Amino acid sequence: MCGIVGYVGGEVAAPIIVDGLRRLEYRGYDSAGIAVHDGESIQVVRALGKLKALSEALGDKPLAGRLGIGHTRWATHGRPSEENAHPHVAGGVAVVHNGIVENHIELRSELERNGVVFRSDTDTEIVAHLIHQALDGGAEDLLEAVRRGLSSVEGAYAIAVLSQHEPTKIVAARHGSPLVVGCGEDEMLCGSDIAALLSHTRDMVFLEDGDIAELSAGGLRIETLAGQVVERQSKRIDWSPVMAERGGYKHFMLKEIHEQPDAIAATLRGRLDLEHGDVYPAEIGITPEAATSLRRVYLVACGTSYHAALIGRYWIESLARVPCMVELGSELSNRDALYFDDDLVIAVSQSGETYDTIGAVSAAKEQGATLLAIANVLDSAIPRLSHGALYTRAGPEIGVASTKCFTAQLAALLMVAVYLGRRRGVLTEDQALEVLQALCEVPSQMNELLGDADYVRTVATHLTHATDVLFLGRGYHFPIALEGALKLKEISYAHAEGYAAGEMKHGPIALIEEGLPVVVVCPKNSSYDKTLGNVQEVRAREGTVIALATKGDEAMHDLAAQIIWLPDAPELVQPFLSVVPLQLLAYYVAARKGHDVDQPRNLAKTVTVE
Ligand code: F6R
Repeated sequence: MCGIVGYVGGEVAAPIIVDGLRRLEYRGYDSAGIAVHDGESIQVVRALGKLKALSEALGDKPLAGRLGIGHTRWATHGRPSEENAHPHVAGGVAVVHNGIVENHIELRSELERNGVVFRSDTDTEIVAHLIHQALDGGAEDLLEAVRRGLSSVEGAYAIAVLSQHEPTKIVAARHGSPLVVGCGEDEMLCGSDIAALLSHTRDMVFLEDGDIAELSAGGLRIETLAGQVVERQSKRIDWSPVMAERGGYKHFMLKEIHEQPDAIAATLRGRLDLEHGDVYPAEIGITPEAATSLRRVYLVACGTSYHAALIGRYWIESLARVPCMVELGSELSNRDALYFDDDLVIAVSQSGETYDTIGAVSAAKEQGATLLAIANVLDSAIPRLSHGALYTRAGPEIGVASTKCFTAQLAALLMVAVYLGRRRGVLTEDQALEVLQALCEVPSQMNELLGDADYVRTVATHLTHATDVLFLGRGYHFPIALEGALKLKEISYAHAEGYAAGEMKHGPIALIEEGLPVVVVCPKNSSYDKTLGNVQEVRAREGTVIALATKGDEAMHDLAAQIIWLPDAPELVQPFLSVVPLQLLAYYVAARKGHDVDQPRNLAKTVTVE
């Protein structure tokens, strides 16, 4: 969702800020703006629509200062428009803001009663007025004014602020929304995530909730909302700026699909003990005693991460023999769920910032459950909240539709299952070794599959005009059917439904008619015969079957209109492979339709609101 970039240093700020905003485009937005202090006053340029519109507006009104803030807005309060785009200015104060001011109605009425005239419908403008009033009311500097202004704000926010009267400083604050400070040479930057800052520096300070930071070219000062000076260690990020480039691919999504073998290999690296059939427990944060005495495991996630969690359940139940529930973060936070001290709650989130997931797992933690995060973004909110964090090492994922983070999450979940299985005495050394060896084979088998991407492109031509597509799968491939359908609807805007193949007779079979495309994930495994039965049922009703089948499966030739071949692999690791053609299928359908694949309409990469 919204993105913030700030720059103070020796260079002209506007191009750096626009470049940073471009790297945050993937978060989703509908307007953008920038404020620069040119040494005399604050100049603001804003535009409805994509950054191209902002760049054109800047072409007409170039901004020359060396200090500025910028923003991409994903509308929450007030429709997308130039007036509602950030920065918002009150007096000599300009503010950009991510998050939501929950008490905006009362704050706005109070300000209006005091004579403030609002120029936008946003909650952000309230923050600008509050800071301006604090300065007018005698706050000694901008940092103090921000502190006073925020003292009446409830909700989640990350803000960056400029003041007319302090032409060398940005003040930034965070509470519940991510904000990172990049420490360059004689320059400081701030941003909603590290991707925005990587081309300038890899030394980052992750602000904590309640931090207010004063950034100047010469340094960084951080205080708490209570006024105490705090030290935050800077961390060297091992993501390179090149990782956030398209690298010759037409879209980030295609690049990221092709990066999956590396993302999995990186996620496994240094964590497997192939001599003793085990995984290294250090970061998991679950002691052997806790693993042994576990009562239940809850996997909590949203969207694509929820589909990874559904597969994780199969592994945790079969390899560690512990009851495992999978919950949507957005639903669990609506329930008065009960947890015990011996429950393990695993939050699965690529961004580590999903509001619904945070809400759900915070409640579990408060009731005493142990919390483990599986996340891709270092030091994001969910890992910070958790007792342990197992990071996927997929590198930056820019395409809004998640691909490489999904398969990296699968690798992490399978490692957790093996860890628990070994501690609980369910898996012998040899059994665990067999699982881990199969997992180690996945990157090369995936590469083999990706070598056939062009064939999937030809299959996609049959779906370009489809308005409805059904996806079916059983066991591990039921969540894969859900994920295949989600990918297709997200980026091609076709209506797609994923179903457990065994449920077909209980309803969806009514949909099948001549020519309805039905994608059936049917590799050779323990449920092959049953799924093949579903293929026959679709055929009997003249549906058009697109099958994912194991190489050499002759029976499929007579049944499916199109077959995408999968490498022969142990059942346990098949979902890593069967998802790849479905990602490619969605990608090629959407690309053929000419859609903005990396930034599909209405979607945001990091969903920081309820
Ligand atoms: C779909 C997608 C979303 C996310 C969901 C949760 O392609 O990416 O469904 O999976 O918004 O996000 P994270 O994983 O960041 O918690």
